[in-house]
Amino acid sequence: MKELTFKYEQHPSTRRLKDAQRSLLKEAKKALKKSYSPYSGFQVAAAIELANGAIISGANYENAAYPLCLCAERVALAAAASQFPNVAIVRMAITVKSKEHPQHKPAAPCGACRQVILETESKQKKSMEIILRGEKGDIIVIPDGGQSLLPLGFSGDALNGK
Ligand code: THU
Repeated sequence: MKELTFKYEQHPSTRRLKDAQRSLLKEAKKALKKSYSPYSGFQVAAAIELANGAIISGANYENAAYPLCLCAERVALAAAASQFPNVAIVRMAITVKSKEHPQHKPAAPCGACRQVILETESKQKKSMEIILRGEKGDIIVIPDGGQSLLPLGFSGDALNGK
């Protein structure tokens, strides 16, 4: 039997985070204001730090035709890829806030977003760090975000018979 494990850090506060991690989380929190979520009342925001120092953020963008709702992570990843197609992503901070229930636990990206994160890592040939936090409470830092969150994910290699 084979087993896959992954490494992550869990911090009770931002005190032990690197400055870059702390400030990216702040950017993500600010970006919650961009959320268009009249149907779920659930705000999600993602802030991305690029290798050139640029910070790009995005939030979920809902639609009355529910399946068309766009997740914050994919909005931010697409914005980064559009504005800086050849610049690698170093880290992405994701945070959530709900109208109905206080979010004191980190919320992890959905399966579809994990697949897109994995594709981004494969495109840039580098992993990205993922930082997760609710409105407050513990912070999770996952150094190899894509590989860790989606082990055995679908790879474009399969399309090329590799
Ligand atoms: N959502 C995200 O933005 N990211 C995820 O990874 C999961 C869910 C959004 C989609 C929808 O607008 C709301 O959260 C409730 O599902």
